[in-house]
Amino acid sequence: MYIVQRALTFARGFLLSYGPTKIKKALWDKEFSGNKWNFIDDTASDCVYAHLEKHARGGDILDLGCGPGNTANELAESAYTTYLGVDISESALAKGMRRTNENGRADKNSFVCSDFLSYMPTRKFDVILFRESMYHIPYGSVMELLNKYSKYLKSNGVFIVRLYTGDFQTGEIKLRVKKKMDLIKSKFDVVELSKYDKPGSPMVLVFRPGQ
Ligand SMILES: C[S@@+](CC[C@H](N)C(=O)[O-])C[C@H]1O[C@@H](n2cnc3c(N)ncnc32)[C@H](O)[C@@H]1O
Repeated sequence: MYIVQRALTFARGFLLSYGPTKIKKALWDKEFSGNKWNFIDDTASDCVYAHLEKHARGGDILDLGCGPGNTANELAESAYTTYLGVDISESALAKGMRRTNENGRADKNSFVCSDFLSYMPTRKFDVILFRESMYHIPYGSVMELLNKYSKYLKSNGVFIVRLYTGDFQTGEIKLRVKKKMDLIKSKFDVVELSKYDKPGSPMVLVFRPGQ
């Protein structure tokens, strides 16, 4: 049973990173149309918000893999002017839009359904955020993707990556996550690196392209 479970978890992870867009979308839509992700509905005390408030400087945010609209609705409204969330799952976005309307933020928040590997922004941002979504970028595509999105950062704009770096049960550092973070640290100018002493060892990395 344990081996079957491990094999299924591996297959899911593989498809969510390397699968064609249609398959990834179908898998995420299935997960978000059920209860699986309801546990992330309230993340108002998350460590990423202080970093976002500081670096958005009241400006424009692009959130890649935005999910059901946590950042769009939990970040202080005064911390930004516009927010654009991109996600592959229409079910997740439907929730994000519903919450946005309920919170009266429809004039600030907008959403686009797309695979962030192929999405092309049409304007520039102060912050480009990957919050718990960097896991789903294949290691070999990380640099290509960040170089593409670098063109859509305003001068002084930053990327912010928020990730759980450790196993929730054992506390062991996840090597695949560490490898991606090490790559980014070696190729970009690191502005801030914050590690939080909480279950799953969340980390927030703020960086920008070198001059
Ligand atoms: C763990 S959830 C995090 C959601 C949100 N960022 C948060 O922290 O509350 C990962 C999100 O990334 C999205 N995602 C994964 N791969 C994607 C891709 N290739 N393009 C766009 N969105 C993607 C999923 O649909 C999901 O909403």
